[in-house]
Formats: sequence, structure tokens, C-alpha cells
Amino acid sequence: MPITTTVTALPGTGPSTVGEYLTAMAAGSCELADLMVLAVEEGGQVAVDSELDPLLGVGISDIIAAHQLTGKPGQIASVLARAGEATVRIAFVGVGDRSARALRRAGGEIGRVLGRADRAVSAVVAGQPDDQARAFAEGVLLGSYRYSEKSAGGQESGAAATMRLLAAASDPVGEAAEFAAAVALARDLTNTPSVRKSPRWLADAAADVAAKAGLTIRVWAAEELADAGFGGITAVGSGSARPPCLIELRYDPPGAARHVALVGKGITFDSGGLSLKPNDGMKTMKTDMAGGAAVIAAMSALARLGVADRVTGLIAAAENMPSGSAYRPGDVITQYGGRTVEVLNTDAEGRLVLADALAYADTVLAADQIVDLATLTGAARVALGSSYAALYSTSDELAAALTEAGQECGERLWRMPLPEDYRKALDSPVADLAHLDRASGQAGSISAALFLREFVGARAWAHLDIAGAARCAADDGELTAGGTGFGTRLLLRWLLGQPA
Ligand code: BES
Ligand code: MN
Ligand code: ZN
Repeated sequence: MPITTTVTALPGTGPSTVGEYLTAMAAGSCELADLMVLAVEEGGQVAVDSELDPLLGVGISDIIAAHQLTGKPGQIASVLARAGEATVRIAFVGVGDRSARALRRAGGEIGRVLGRADRAVSAVVAGQPDDQARAFAEGVLLGSYRYSEKSAGGQESGAAATMRLLAAASDPVGEAAEFAAAVALARDLTNTPSVRKSPRWLADAAADVAAKAGLTIRVWAAEELADAGFGGITAVGSGSARPPCLIELRYDPPGAARHVALVGKGITFDSGGLSLKPNDGMKTMKTDMAGGAAVIAAMSALARLGVADRVTGLIAAAENMPSGSAYRPGDVITQYGGRTVEVLNTDAEGRLVLADALAYADTVLAADQIVDLATLTGAARVALGSSYAALYSTSDELAAALTEAGQECGERLWRMPLPEDYRKALDSPVADLAHLDRASGQAGSISAALFLREFVGARAWAHLDIAGAARCAADDGELTAGGTGFGTRLLLRWLLGQPA
């Protein structure tokens, strides 16, 4: 379901506090609102609003005390107030120390409430610097996202909600809206059930994006991939009735100094193949294309945001299924570029499709920097949980830039090592390389990264193992249950540089 919330900034000339707004509303001199939002800072502090106090039955400090509001980011309590004939809900939301992180969380919780009120006014960032408006607006937009396939009768209110930010500049809100729309796209793609989401479906979705976003697209069909030697994508896709493809999206602004390749794992469903997963591990595997979704989503916003670099997106799309035509443990496949790989477990499919795309990005695209995103290993989730992604890189500079972008936008990365002495675990008696550590079975996320490194030549490369961060089980701040769109904002923040 597309995002229907909009956030606009009210210029400094209008009411600048909730009290002023309510008074104006009662006098019929401004648009009606049914929800008003006030910030509670650390220690339960609320900015003085002398016009609001008389409209509430009790003092603000009594409300703070009665609801035990501490200013913890995202904590919410609401009361009713009267404005002429109308009844308005006043929500108090914790904004902690007013860091971007705290404001995004506060915005996220308010965004969720917005589904039930459709015209809201917020004084959370009134009179604050624009970066605060940006973070809060982004949180509101991200938190109001919903994915639902309930039939019409059971559908939650999908009414378009609007929120006006009192006394905030409009520019930062515009960028937040671009970011949030891209994230909503990534979440929609990720949340779509695999019964519809075949590799072809993903390519069609990418083609739609390309048409709207001024990108060119080439979709490599299964036969073309087999002919050109993309043995990893071909093998992984061979068990499915729905053929694999490689999606290549190009953004090529004039005068670009750097060429970046973004590579996404696009497994539209991961059953494990013949190395079949148990049901518990399989039931969330429609999200195994979340890396590819982040790449498509980030690319959808490049032109509108004015990114200066040339960017090529590669999404290696396949469905990993068991069947009479499936690839097998013990098979030896030939990756793009000619290297042979011994397959030991068909459930370690992601690295095989990525290896082809990485080798192509290195040898054909000759990209200056390559960044891949993949829900690659359960081990990364075990190590870092769901709010950090594992970062591996051959370049300290690239790693630092990505880490900083992640810190800035709230999609956090933790750098992991690529130890040379672990590499020998990937030696194979029969092929150039084995795709996993057959002996120890330890350091699963690291050995997957070491395998990928074999295919990037001497390029500056970073790999993000987003197995934990790509999905969340329950609504939390700016995240909504299901696909999180992780990586979308990070890539955009990195490509754009830090906010002004
Ligand atoms: N898509 C999975 C990784 C995954 C697991 C992502 C849980 C999100 C949540 C990947 O293809 C996979 O199955 N990896 C195996 C590798 C193993 C067979 C070496 C894993 O992590 O168990
Ligand atoms: Mn797998
Ligand atoms: Zn997978």
C-alpha cells in the first residue's frame, strides 16, 4: 500500500504553538485539525504554551505527572481539549535529547497514531533547527507506513493523513519525503508475498521504477545469463518454474566523477533448495530480496535528489526451490568470469548469485566502488541482532564513509574483519573454491564475505550483511513490522553526502 501521509511545514507567519493554532481554529481562521502533537523533552519538560493551558481542563504539568511522562523517545500519552465546537486530541510525545535518532523514533510513533486521525498539527519541532524538522518528518512518514492485504472490509483506515509542522522550514521536509517514499517502495517490494513476487515480477517492478525515475534498464533473461556464463544465478534459479534474471539499472548524470555499482541479493523466495529449510526458517523468506529492494528503491530517488555520481544497480534475482531440475550439493558451477565453485549446501545460494554480479561489476562495469547488500547469513543476525548490519570492506575510506552515513540516517553498521587466515577454509579439493567453510562451520557471516571478496578484483568494495536488519517482528519507532527497507536511506545518505 502506498504511503498516504504527507508532512508539510507551516511558514513562520502562521500560528507557531499548539495553543495559538487551537485558538485560531476555534475562531475559524485556520484549517481544522483533529490531532495536535507536543514534545516532552528529557526530564518531562514541555515548552510553555500560555494559550494552550486554559484550553486544557488541567495544567500540563499535571498531565505529565499523571501519565508519568519522562521524555523517553517515542513515549506517548494523549488528552482531549476543546476548540470551539470541535474536540481535539492532544498527544504528548517524548523526544529525549532531541537528537535525530530520538526525533525519528518520536515521529515514528506519532506516524502510527496518524492512521486514526487524518489532520494533525505538530509543535514538536516549532522553532527548532531544520535538521530536527527533517528527522521528525522522516519518522512520521516512515512510521505511518502500512502493508496490508486484508480484504476491503477488514482494512485499516487508509485515509490520506496530513501533518503540518508549525514554524519549520519546508526544504528539509522535502528531502525527508523523498527518502521515506523510497523506503516505502523497498518495504512494499519486500513485503509482497512470493506467490506474486517472482524474479520476473521484480524485474517488472524495476522497469516501472526506471520509467518513472529516469533510469535505463536492461533485464538479462535466463537464456542470456546461461549463454554469458552467469553460472551462479543460473544454478540457483534452476530449481524454480519461474526463471531467474539479472536486473541492471543505470543512472548516468552528465559530468559524473565516480561510478558506483550497487549490487543486491534478489532471492524472491529462499526455500533452501534441496538443502531445504525447516518451516520456521522458511516462513519469512519472501524477504530474501531485501538487498535488491534497497538497491531498486535507492535508485528510484537518485535523479530527484540530484545525486552527482554515475550509479549502476545490479539485482541478481532468482527463486531458490527444490525440484528435479534444481542444483545439488556436490555440484561444481562456473561463476561469471570462469572461476569454478564447489556447492556444498544449496541454502548458501545468496553468495552464488552475488558472485556473478560482483564479477560483472568488476570486469565489465569497472566501477570505482562496489557496494553489495544481502540478507546473506543467519550468523550476521545472531552476531548483531536487528538494529545493526555487518559491514565488510576492502577499503577503510569506503567503510568509514558508509559507517558515517549509517550513523547519520539511523541505519547503523558495525565493521567486521576479513581475516586472511580464514580464507583457506574455502579451499576445495575439486574446484577453484568452495562456497562455504565445510570444516568448522564457524564465522558464517565472515566466510560468506571472504567468498564474495574473491569476485571483486582490486576494487574498493563493501558488503553489508543485512540478514538481521532487513526485517523486524514488531512495529518499533520508525520501523514497521515486516520489511524495514534497511539500506535505502543509508545508500542515499552516502551518495548525497552529509545533510547541509
Ligand atoms: N537467506 C538466508 C539467510 C538468512 C537467514 C536471512 C535468516 C535472514 C534470516 C541465506 O540464504 C541462508 O540460508 N544462509 C545460510 C547459510 C549456510 C547454509 C551456510 C544460513 O545462514 O544458515
Ligand atoms: Mn539460503
Ligand atoms: Zn537466502
